[in-house]
Amino acid sequence: HHPNGRALRMIMFGKPGAGKGTLTARLVQKYDILSLSTGDLLRQHIAEKTEVGRVAEEIVAKGGLLPDELMLKVVSSKLDALRHKHWILDGFPRTVGQGRLLDAHLRKQCSPLNLVVNLDVPDEVILTRISDRWVHLPSGRVYNLSYNRPRVDGLDDKTGEPLTKRPDDNPETFTRRLQQFYASTSPLLQYYSSSPSTNSPGPKAKLVSLRGSTSDEIWPLLEHALAWPSETALGCGGTAS
Ligand code: AP5
Repeated sequence: HHPNGRALRMIMFGKPGAGKGTLTARLVQKYDILSLSTGDLLRQHIAEKTEVGRVAEEIVAKGGLLPDELMLKVVSSKLDALRHKHWILDGFPRTVGQGRLLDAHLRKQCSPLNLVVNLDVPDEVILTRISDRWVHLPSGRVYNLSYNRPRVDGLDDKTGEPLTKRPDDNPETFTRRLQQFYASTSPLLQYYSSSPSTNSPGPKAKLVSLRGSTSDEIWPLLEHALAWPSETALGCGGTAS
């Protein structure tokens, strides 16, 4: 267990298909860190036909974004359970509005963000990857036919259950998701790089951009960025101004 002030509070940021899920899974495997993927959460809600799932199904299929307030609700209950853990958020926040809501929520926990990693991968690279992606829906495990093949084609390595294609991974919807990224999500980079926001007390999170087209290029850079952001770790009492 870690005192709140020392815990890793990280956002894995990037375009759809940039490799957020793949690299987050690697970090979780190697370090004592937990992760939360809003894409995986929503796909589970859809599969279980919950109330959120019913709202999400059509929006996700079309490559749109769910309302900010609803997303905060989905995320915050999970986050509260991770209070004493190191964590990475994958796929949230995705709008400046969500960024503000998250800051406010973490402020209540006295445990603000300390690291934002931006995976900067060219569109052309991403578009070719997506057609090769297969997923294991229950766990969120991701495979790629040209890069990270399952041991047996079509089956999950751990459970042996069948892999599926995501319904939003067809070229047409994927193009819409990329457009949505540029319109609504990329402004968050400005939000995180601007001077300490009035929304979060004390020093702001460290923002690191990693560029590369293979995970072997990106992985060492990512581990370096993660070298504990102790200088940016914040407690509550005393440091807030
Ligand atoms: P979500 O599941 O978050 O989709 P996304 O952001 O589009 O991200 P992806 O899962 O497509 O990609 P990734 O970056 O994780 O890449 P991956 O590691 O799989 O969200 C889905 C939908 O839910 C959204 O469109 C929206 O509708 C809704 N939603 C979610 N969050 C929301 C929010 N906060 N607010 C509102 N709505 C929300 O890698 C991609 C592929 O490339 C894989 O096949 C992988 O194996 C391969 N790959 C990875 N790295 C490499 C490499 N270095 N070289 C070769 N191949 C690689």
